[in-house]
Amino acid sequence: MPDRLQVVADDITRLAVDAVVNAANESLLGGGGVDGAIHRAAGPQLLAFCRTMNGCPTGQAKITPGFRLPAKHVIHTVGPVWQGGDRGEPALLASCYRNCFRLAKEHGLHSIAFPAISCGVYGYPHEAAALIATAECRSALAGNSTLKQVLLVAFDEAMAGVLRRAAQSA
Ligand code: APR
Repeated sequence: MPDRLQVVADDITRLAVDAVVNAANESLLGGGGVDGAIHRAAGPQLLAFCRTMNGCPTGQAKITPGFRLPAKHVIHTVGPVWQGGDRGEPALLASCYRNCFRLAKEHGLHSIAFPAISCGVYGYPHEAAALIATAECRSALAGNSTLKQVLLVAFDEAMAGVLRRAAQSA
């Protein structure tokens, strides 16, 4: 059976999946990095919609329409800022993935694409984040037969290599 978990190097805003995950901040009012790219591609209606969402705590996730994105939905999640690793960051990062998968299951989604949450501005070490991401993906796939495709989207080949190595060991 083909692996339902795939690593790709791409721009997540181009992917026609049921949901793309946004690495947002607690305001949900946009930012730089993948957050900025998703808002630019989705258009101004996404920000207008997010203004009604009353933010999102770190580790939690909220779902919105995708508007002008090829993806049907955006699942916004807020990763932890890396502070050395003993401030609950691993558990909060795992919680991001679990809550995104919970929403995917509740909405009967068949495909979801994740960026490397917290691995940019928030400074999370890439290997450690990739191990958490792939472990949560394997666990979610085992518990959800409706989910046919999970994409871990790297923005460069280096990150893609980190994710591929983690996926092989997960
Ligand atoms: N497609 C896929 N991945 C992308 C894209 C894109 N278009 N743009 C950036 N990335 C990658 C980055 O290279 C990084 O590996 O997404 C990963 C997450 O980096 P950030 O976007 O900086 O997100 P994060 O580290 O979680 O920081 C979140 O940054 O943009 C602000 O509003 C956001 O305050 C929040 C913070």
